Amino acid sequence: MSKFSYKVQDIFGNEDVVFMDKKKKKPDLFSNYEGFLDKFEDKKTTDDCYTPKEVMGIIIDYVNEKYPLIGKKIIRPFYPGGDFESVVYDSESVVIDNPPFSIISKICKYYIQRDIKFFLFCPHLTAFSSDIDCTHIIASADITYENGAIVKTAFVSNMFGNLKIIGDAALCQKFKELQERNKANLPKYEYPEHIITVSKVAYCVEKGVSLAIEKADVKHYRAMDAQKKHGKALFGSGFLVSNKAAAAAAAAAAAAAAAKKMDNVITWELSEKEKQIIERLSK
Ligand SMILES: C[S@@+](CC[C@H](N)C(=O)[O-])C[C@H]1O[C@@H](n2cnc3c(N)ncnc32)[C@H](O)[C@@H]1O
Repeated sequence: MSKFSYKVQDIFGNEDVVFMDKKKKKPDLFSNYEGFLDKFEDKKTTDDCYTPKEVMGIIIDYVNEKYPLIGKKIIRPFYPGGDFESVVYDSESVVIDNPPFSIISKICKYYIQRDIKFFLFCPHLTAFSSDIDCTHIIASADITYENGAIVKTAFVSNMFGNLKIIGDAALCQKFKELQERNKANLPKYEYPEHIITVSKVAYCVEKGVSLAIEKADVKHYRAMDAQKKHGKALFGSGFLVSNKAAAAAAAAAAAAAAAKKMDNVITWELSEKEKQIIERLSK
């Protein structure tokens, strides 16, 4: 592929995309960003963990505290179809990005050999597995990437002089707080009594209340009609159940400790069709 692009951003998060022609080693002025993204849409597999803006914000602030970035060009060369070896770096370039973990050692060596400053995401568990001349920053950071994958992430950098290992509790705390904020913003689904999910049963047993439902009282169910139009489903599937089973489950839930009132609750209602199925199940 002779054309590729990379992102350049400043410390305030303003982004620019530079399009390059690999053969000419100069910016390609005839491409456009949307076209570039469309081209690689199919290649966005679940293996590609894209970094949310808030995460990049935490990292850029962190680097800036240790190594002032004012006047520097923050380069993000790792992109679908990207080629970090063809990017033109200069003395003002600082690479801050989430690279493909499979070639992290090769990437670090490339930058170290050329004295290009970098701060890169890397896998937490294997953070010490390559003996590379850089600093390992461990923050025990559980990062939720754009594809929903939660990956414990560490960082590597050549911007911390003689330090080999940094265990940073303050950075750990920042990621913990972000995870908490993200959790609080997730919608909670509430289902009618005639829908039994594994979580409903778990809730009862964890509070010491047992529950048993007969086969004749249930129909296996993947998604409620109310959910389908929103492209949603019962997480892990569940059962649409008879009046008798619904009453038993409701009694068990009532016997368990009172549910904590939660914000952001979405209540899914039964459709007419589902009510008819329940009628049939209840006869
Ligand atoms: C973990 S993803 C992160 C993407 C983006 N940097 C982010 O933070 O959201 C790594 C990306 O690097 C791309 N990649 C793979 N090999 C590359 C290379 N040699 N040069 C540049 N990018 C590459 C992959 O296609 C993938 O999109």
